[in-house]
Amino acid sequence: MLQRRSHLSTTFDLSIVNEIIDSLGCKPSAIIAILQGVQERCRYLPEEIFPYLSEKLGVSEASIYSVATFYENFSLEPKGKYVIKICDGTACHVRKSIPILEKLRKELKLTEKKSTTDDLMFTVETVSCLGACGLAPVITVNDKVYPAMTPDKAELLLRELREEKKDA
Ligand code: FES
Repeated sequence: MLQRRSHLSTTFDLSIVNEIIDSLGCKPSAIIAILQGVQERCRYLPEEIFPYLSEKLGVSEASIYSVATFYENFSLEPKGKYVIKICDGTACHVRKSIPILEKLRKELKLTEKKSTTDDLMFTVETVSCLGACGLAPVITVNDKVYPAMTPDKAELLLRELREEKKDA
């Protein structure tokens, strides 16, 4: 069953979806690629796209929704401008990734349940092995890798990102 998130506005600009459909083809077999395109552009899958894609592609809303919830990379919740992933695979864990996570959560007032700041600037997530164990502990910010992290370095990085935001 689709769960509606009524607190979110419904002002999503569907022209983004149209552009993506135009480039990939308006056919049911393109559904994963279309969802990936939307996710790339918006950093999540807004709920408005489900009925819209359903009508356009002639696929039930429930089927599209089940594709969206099946793949871990898709998010149905808005994510921050900066998505920070803290590796908690074995190598990183042993080299103290958790204090980094705790520091970032504390700085951004986030918890395990609340991973995105209200201003939609930051999302903090954990992942299990980013494939760069030799550089542990590793974090990524929007896929840029930061090796040999410490809680202090992470705090500094956060400050830099906030400065960037001011300049933007
Ligand atoms: S365990 Fe962190 S990169 Fe592999």
